[in-house]
Amino acid sequence: MEVAKTIASVRELVKAARSRDQKIALVPTMGALHIGHIALMERAVKDCDYVVVSIFVNPTQFCPGEDLEKYPRPLDADLEICEQVGVDLVFTPTTEQMYGTANLTWVTVEKLTEPLCGRLRPGHFRGVTTVCAKLFSIVQPDIAYFGQKDGQQAIVIKKMVADLNMPLHVVVCPTVREPDGLAVSSRNQYLTEQQKKDAALIYKSLQNCKEMVEDGITDTKSIIAQMREILSQAPAIKIEYVSILDAETLQEIGSVDRLVLAAVAVRIGQARLIDNILVDVGEQ
Ligand code: PAJ
Repeated sequence: MEVAKTIASVRELVKAARSRDQKIALVPTMGALHIGHIALMERAVKDCDYVVVSIFVNPTQFCPGEDLEKYPRPLDADLEICEQVGVDLVFTPTTEQMYGTANLTWVTVEKLTEPLCGRLRPGHFRGVTTVCAKLFSIVQPDIAYFGQKDGQQAIVIKKMVADLNMPLHVVVCPTVREPDGLAVSSRNQYLTEQQKKDAALIYKSLQNCKEMVEDGITDTKSIIAQMREILSQAPAIKIEYVSILDAETLQEIGSVDRLVLAAVAVRIGQARLIDNILVDVGEQ
């Protein structure tokens, strides 16, 4: 496994892989790798011949007052995980490599970035799309892998790739969960044991949404009310949003009559946690 810090060396190594006719995968991450990231990496290793993982805590997607400084950066452990999974190249750029001294070009996806996390984290998705556009341009992968865990992010990246005619496929992998349903996240490290138990209610509320739809209840107001009630069982949970949206346009809907994204964001103690599921009426 190679570790590259510069764009020039990534380009060189990927060029060599391509000249061997190898299919190139990219798994963008911010490090602090866990079994959710590993699932993406394993899928990439299975599908492709040359797997690149980027580890970069992207400052432009953090809003003022967020956890940029304290975001975990266990690089040695991350590199070991990559090696074990069979990754070929890990790209660990500095902020200067990625943004130079005066970055003036930004990629913004409209509309899809307005609801959910876009509303609560202004500028967040601009940072995500810009860094992903840069990574796609540096690595030029055939396939890039993302997790359903960040459902809005996956939808936004897919739209950017389609709208800008970027020559790659985006594969979205299922959310990896703890046995109690809590979506695995680097930010779970901020939780105490009790808070972790409370956090299991997030998935419980999402499951409840699915069950209600399966029972023929489609009125989103009633479903959201019940989801909120489940979350309110833990007084430590501060709800940021509970939403049911059209899974393609991310517009609010009154009735679950198509594929929808049910999404929850909460704060528990120091942590901000998000989760979502896709629910289809035709799934019953
Ligand atoms: P990060 O939070 O490190 O996540 C990297 C990738 O792993 C994302 O595609 C995310 O959806 C996926 N992932 C995280 N937890 C997961 C889980 N429990 N199950 C499945 N997939 C999971 O998302 C980012 O970094 C950044 O925004 C990035 C895309 C790297 C741009 O900076």
